Amino acid sequence: MTYHIRQLDASVKLADFQCGREFLDNYIRRYALQDVRRNVARVFIATPENDPQQLSGFFTLSAGSVSCSSLPASLARKLPCYPVPVALIGRLAVDKKFRGKGLGSILLADACQKVSQASAILAVAGIIVDAKDDEAISFYKHFGFIPLQGQAGRMLLPASVFLSK
Ligand SMILES: CC(C)(COP(=O)(O)OP(=O)(O)OC[C@H]1O[C@@H](n2cnc3c(N)ncnc32)[C@H](O)[C@@H]1OP(=O)(O)O)[C@@H](O)C(=O)NCCC(=O)NCCS
Repeated sequence: MTYHIRQLDASVKLADFQCGREFLDNYIRRYALQDVRRNVARVFIATPENDPQQLSGFFTLSAGSVSCSSLPASLARKLPCYPVPVALIGRLAVDKKFRGKGLGSILLADACQKVSQASAILAVAGIIVDAKDDEAISFYKHFGFIPLQGQAGRMLLPASVFLSK
């Protein structure tokens, strides 16, 4: 299936979205548009090419920072010892009907590409995620994210992995 990824707008059907995690379903239904208006997140949605109102998945991007003490020593060594700027994928989810068909990896790749483009004018040392459970941790590990020390569920993909040289 081919998907179209665009910024969240009011034309998409939010009420039917079900990813199996109520906090994520609630977020996209009730809070996402508000976050966009308040400039605390950009929200990107995926819809099937032939059905632009059907919400198949989404992710959010915001700016963030991490302290150098939470980074693995091998990485901290290469960075200044004060909070370093990162991009945050705050939420990422795929509707149950579209699960297991590659959409999660499409969304993650699209998020990395967007951050890579944005980093030309706003530097980031990596992308962080807040994985809320073991399934999410194992999903992000699969794509090379590494756990940060002392912050349960917080994981980092260093910029060297996704920035085009
Ligand atoms: C996690 C989630 C986004 C995966 O979406 P998906 O569309 O089913 O994933 P894909 O089909 O794109 O899978 C991509 C790859 O990740 C792997 N994968 C998927 N879920 C995985 C998991 N929980 N653990 C490890 N690997 C996983 C797949 O095997 C696949 O591997 P491959 O590319 O080597 O074949 C989806 O299951 C979901 O929305 N879960 C609930 C919400 C959630 O946990 N969000 C993440 C944290 S906020």
